[in-house]
Amino acid sequence: MTATPPSTTTAPARVSHFERMGGEAGVVALVQAFYGHMDARADARGIRAMHGLDLSSTKSVLVLYLCEWLGGPQTYTVQRGHPRLRMRHGGFALGEAERDAWLACMDAALADRSVEATLHAELMAAFFKTADWMRNTAPHP
Ligand code: HEM
Repeated sequence: MTATPPSTTTAPARVSHFERMGGEAGVVALVQAFYGHMDARADARGIRAMHGLDLSSTKSVLVLYLCEWLGGPQTYTVQRGHPRLRMRHGGFALGEAERDAWLACMDAALADRSVEATLHAELMAAFFKTADWMRNTAPHP
């Protein structure tokens, strides 16, 4: 039997969204910017009021979630189990205005981080789907 010679061609490296966002430090900076906008924007006053005054633990959890969602370490699931985001947001009245305010903060945060245009658009499309699916006030999706 003849041994197969080692391949001389290498497969193109697949770079995860997590890496393209700058790894954990990039996600921390994104979440920081996201809540900075939520603190500052008039259209986000309602959703900011759903959070506690001290955002530190909320920020840490969102960092863990986004790292995992972007293809990084799966620490969120290890620590908190399945995200069950719709259930976890069930205590807040989320309609179109709340969805749009959340997305506006994230859009501005991605712009602050100078995320490349294609990735920015892909992430916003995915965030829209999740945020829209979480709406729990009429008209229901
Ligand atoms: C639709 C508008 C949204 C509003 C108003 C909203 C608001 C909130 C609030 C008030 C909390 C609780 C924070 C705390 O007390 O610590 C929370 C938790 C969280 N949110 Fe949202 N959220 C929205 C959409 C989203 C979206 C689109 C995502 C993900 C892409 C997301 C991810 C999370 C995560 C991961 C947590 C923590 C869950 C846990 O406890 O493990 N949220 N959100």
